[in-house]
Amino acid sequence: MDSAARHPSATKPRPLERDRIRELLRREEERLNQRTIGSKVLFERARQSLTGGVGSSYQSREPWPIYVSRGDGAYVWDVDGNRYIDYHNGFGSMVQGHAHPVISEAVARRLPLGTHFGAATEDGVWVAEELKRRFGLPQWRYTNSGTEATMDAIRIARAFTRRDAVLKMVGSFHGHHDYVMVSIGMGYNQLGDRENYASTPYGAGIPKPSVDMTVPLPFNDADAMERRIERLVAEGRPPACLIMEAVLMNLGVILPKPGYLERVREITRKYGILWIVDEVKTGLQVATGGATELYGLEPDLVTLAKALGGGLPSGAIGGTDEVMEVVRNGSVFQVGTYNGNPLVMAAARASLEGVLTPEVYLHLRKLNDRLIAGLENITAEFGLPGYAVGINSKGVYTFSSVEIVDYETFKANQDAELNQLAWLYNMNRGIFMTPGREEEWTLSVRHTDADVDQYVAVFREMARDLKS
Ligand SMILES: Cc1ncc(COP(=O)(O)O)c(C=O)c1O
Repeated sequence: MDSAARHPSATKPRPLERDRIRELLRREEERLNQRTIGSKVLFERARQSLTGGVGSSYQSREPWPIYVSRGDGAYVWDVDGNRYIDYHNGFGSMVQGHAHPVISEAVARRLPLGTHFGAATEDGVWVAEELKRRFGLPQWRYTNSGTEATMDAIRIARAFTRRDAVLKMVGSFHGHHDYVMVSIGMGYNQLGDRENYASTPYGAGIPKPSVDMTVPLPFNDADAMERRIERLVAEGRPPACLIMEAVLMNLGVILPKPGYLERVREITRKYGILWIVDEVKTGLQVATGGATELYGLEPDLVTLAKALGGGLPSGAIGGTDEVMEVVRNGSVFQVGTYNGNPLVMAAARASLEGVLTPEVYLHLRKLNDRLIAGLENITAEFGLPGYAVGINSKGVYTFSSVEIVDYETFKANQDAELNQLAWLYNMNRGIFMTPGREEEWTLSVRHTDADVDQYVAVFREMARDLKS
């Protein structure tokens, strides 16, 4: 398998002083506040009309969000003029880097020709042909986001199987519609019985009957999955589908154990359950044909978004001829005013044709290897409790000396203070990361060795400060 991965080193970590971590947290918070006064001023204005000062709750941050003014290549600038190397990359979307000339030119060419018709264009046909080639699934449809892609994929699966229940991995995020906003974010002590995780709403406003139809499972445990399926069948509610990522990307980065994905395919086939591989975060980020290609998967449906649009809102669903027949014959209404929007399709085509080519993934892998090796060296040098893990353009530094293999180990081994400290060190030294979360990094094709070395240098400074 073509990936770069590391696991916790054998070196025994030395414990860190909590008082020292808190002292550094105070210092770094104060420093970031001083550097981002322009964001503070804009926040005061924004909150008068834009709820919480942001367009999406995942963009919030205490005491104020960092407002961005522009991006170019591997860099973004905030409204105070601070320049950062971007590792946030729009929640893992901008693997092409910002304002890539190939994509910018394609969008500029499309703009004067009209940007929305509610009718298909040739670029949309070309993109479907290319996705078919890359992912090995013959039929495609478009959406405007990952949320819409996973929502429609589940509806297609329900129509095809004529069943209602949905399986997902506990703790995993697949977008913000009711079918999947289930059993996410619970504390370790609320997890309960691993064989029988409860279906709980993620936030208010999600109806209980909808929540109850979605059943959470532990990742990396095919036997537990099969036992749960058998119980559901016995209860008269056989699942329509299993929606999951092949590599979990919203709990740091969790790799599948060897043989696990093969077992998942076997079991889902055995029980007539459609397998939806959610590639919103892995899709065009980790290989030309995503995790599907990397691991040689045979999903029934694949969902894409994020990197597909080259920075414009996009999404897609790929499926087998047999499954997508429920869309073709009109029994499922897979619809949307902006689906296959000409501007998005022009950007997606330019990106697939001229940016996200096979060589690019070699470049990303080399960079990721360099970054992971750099972080691992520092871990060993300073005896840090943690490890770096990644796959091609994606990775994360996990502050845990225990390997994270599922939501349970993820929750049991979180060090919120260290995560926050690492984020502040990065932001204060020109490394842009996703706010307030133990989020993975995303590299872009525009990142260089020097950019990666800068990330490592900042990490080293933090390690040194923690130990001094
Ligand atoms: C795996 C996965 N699926 C679906 C989504 C939803 O995508 P969007 O935010 O475009 O609706 C996300 C968003 O982060 C995601 O990580």
